[in-house]
Amino acid sequence: MHFLRRIFRGEPASGLDNYRLRRRLAVGGMGEVWLAQDPEGRPVVVKRTLDSDDQAVLELCMADEIRNMAALDHPSIPALLDAGEHDGRQFLVLEHIRGDSLWRLSRLAQAAGHRLPDGLILRIGAGIAEALAHAHSRRDETGRLLHLVHRDVTPENIMITHRGEVKLIDFGVAHSTLNERVTAPGSIYGKVAYNSPEQVLDGPVSEATDQFQLGVVLWELFSGHRLFAGGSLATVINRIASESAQELEHFRPDLSVAITDTVMRCLAFHPEDRHEGCDQLAYRLGKLAEIMDAVEGSNYASWRATLMAQGLDPQRLPSAAAQRTEPTLPQAA
Ligand SMILES: Nc1ncnc2c1ncn2[C@@H]1O[C@H](COP(=O)(O)OP(=O)(O)O)[C@@H](O)[C@H]1O
Ligand SMILES: [Mg+2]
Repeated sequence: MHFLRRIFRGEPASGLDNYRLRRRLAVGGMGEVWLAQDPEGRPVVVKRTLDSDDQAVLELCMADEIRNMAALDHPSIPALLDAGEHDGRQFLVLEHIRGDSLWRLSRLAQAAGHRLPDGLILRIGAGIAEALAHAHSRRDETGRLLHLVHRDVTPENIMITHRGEVKLIDFGVAHSTLNERVTAPGSIYGKVAYNSPEQVLDGPVSEATDQFQLGVVLWELFSGHRLFAGGSLATVINRIASESAQELEHFRPDLSVAITDTVMRCLAFHPEDRHEGCDQLAYRLGKLAEIMDAVEGSNYASWRATLMAQGLDPQRLPSAAAQRTEPTLPQAA
């Protein structure tokens, strides 16, 4: 990764001029994300900071994101292709994923009166748990664990390619020993309704935090309800901090106990009561997916095409950020 050595040595970085920005995909608190073309005309994604009153903080966050992304190398995580500086602002270049966010896909299914097929949910869970296990296993050059935790596992940060592959994106608030920026106490990152008890209670965040967040995603996909969302920010935080997650079985009595137990164990209030690690979780979800009707490869393409045929193209649904509201699935009673 020559560009990283360059950056860490403080040498002149690659310029954004090498990339042609085509279409803005998203704009958020930290910056903007563009669909772009590299010098060879290949599609890539450029993420860069925006002008802000807090520019110095944004630049530190971006530097942390670049370092953390550079430590990752997994088929379910977009590759970091380049990073540099332009007009005093940093940017990073990622492999472009052709697909839909899980958020859009589940909106689409909901609009058509369906849930995602159980087999697909299990495969998504297994894929994301594998990507997380990879992140959790990263070490520095002296062999010490980086304790790289994503901290923002939500439907918007999970993508499904048109071929049905599962990808975990957005290490924008990930934390590891590589981070230079110290997280202020009481900072809540990402979408609060997907936070774990230790995140909202300011406890130590660990690998088990990502497992809890994935548990919320899976619980909602299986049940068709929101788990903690609804009401004011304080209400959501209170719910996460004081209640154990409602039993999935209550909403889906038809699901096998093996599935409901696996999801509920991710959602254990105390981190030590969750699965031993995301690799173990990935193995379990993968085995369960094998038993279900597999929705993969051409199966996935035809399932998606069926939804599209009903006039519901996920590409045409506005992004969650553009809507500025939480998804409106009914809240668990
Ligand atoms: N590698 C990628 N390939 C395709 N789309 C991407 C990629 N990375 C990000 N996006 C799109 O841009 C959006 C915002 O990117 P993300 O990294 O999640 O930044 P933010 O911090 O704004 O949430 C994503 O929800 C996704 O739609
Ligand atoms: Mg995001």
